[in-house]
Amino acid sequence: METQIRKADHLRICLDEDVQCRQITTGLERYRFTHCCLPEIDRGDIDLTTTFLGKPLNAPLLISSMTGGTEQAKTINRRLAGVAQHYRLAMGVGSQRVAVEQPQVAATFAVRDIAPDILLFANLGAVQLNYRYGLDECRRVVDGLAADALILHLNPLQECVQTGGDTNFRGLLKKITALCETLPVPVIAKEVGNGISAATAVQLLEAGVAAIDVAGAGGTSWALVESERASDARQRRLGKTFADWGLPTAECIAAVRAIAPQVPLIASGGLRDGLEAAKAIALGADLVGMALPFLQAANESDAALYELTDILIAEVTTTMFCTGCETLGALRSPGVLQKI
Ligand code: FNR
Repeated sequence: METQIRKADHLRICLDEDVQCRQITTGLERYRFTHCCLPEIDRGDIDLTTTFLGKPLNAPLLISSMTGGTEQAKTINRRLAGVAQHYRLAMGVGSQRVAVEQPQVAATFAVRDIAPDILLFANLGAVQLNYRYGLDECRRVVDGLAADALILHLNPLQECVQTGGDTNFRGLLKKITALCETLPVPVIAKEVGNGISAATAVQLLEAGVAAIDVAGAGGTSWALVESERASDARQRRLGKTFADWGLPTAECIAAVRAIAPQVPLIASGGLRDGLEAAKAIALGADLVGMALPFLQAANESDAALYELTDILIAEVTTTMFCTGCETLGALRSPGVLQKI
């Protein structure tokens, strides 16, 4: 019950309050594309298709892990899955801890019936491996969703601000290693908006994770979300103090790509339009995730969600046209994006 109330609070706070980072930015504003006034390509031929973890996508977009566990969450997940199926995007559901605790709410995550073809990610907090969960629970959430991969989110700051949060992260890397060895689907490591450094990425890759989602700073601040939820003054203040903590998304992408040129890499955290998405790709990301923008649109209507996805694709396409890039690979060529 407590987990369900927390999930409902997260949706309400993210939709009603300003919980975006105040000062820290993604760092993408420090980059500019080199405009090309003679692209020598037909805009209609621009190809946004890609493959991630072996599955084809029509555009390099991910609806980031958000919700599940309540009726409102179910409506949102089903709307998100509908648009993901229509445009062949990737999608993650929110932490399925609540579905392990209360199997009767597993249906609030289920979307395969309406999204049979999408790249779909299950989700659990990595720290749960230190509390009650092991391979069985991980397998159960993956199977229950018919997911292609499991995202393990790493959220030490959020757990500190959340009243009664799970803060024993000792020995987790070993448990992640064991899980990667035995789980039949790939494991993806993700932050929740504070970023993954190159050094941590090296550790995670050595542990056997198949992909990394940097989920850097500059967008939704989970310190602020948990600060809003906290009932005691101490936790509220703690969250405000750390509102702008973390590694900016642009820095994480460049740093992780530099140490792992081949790793499937997801950029997320504060990306708000297709031009920023294109910058993240040019910096080396394979896939671009957004959470809050999709949540806001899904909360409004199906139409708002389709409109958002359509404009995101138009923005990425326009960037590619005006840089003379026909493919996503071309967008990553040297000189296409410059630091200013
Ligand atoms: C999230 N996020 C998240 N991440 C995760 O791995 N498991 C989860 O259960 C949740 N829950 C969740 C709920 C809501 C309402 C939001 C808005 C977000 C974090 C999310 O996936 C993402 O990493 C951050 O929100 C940063 O991206 P944006 O919002 O700046 O695009």
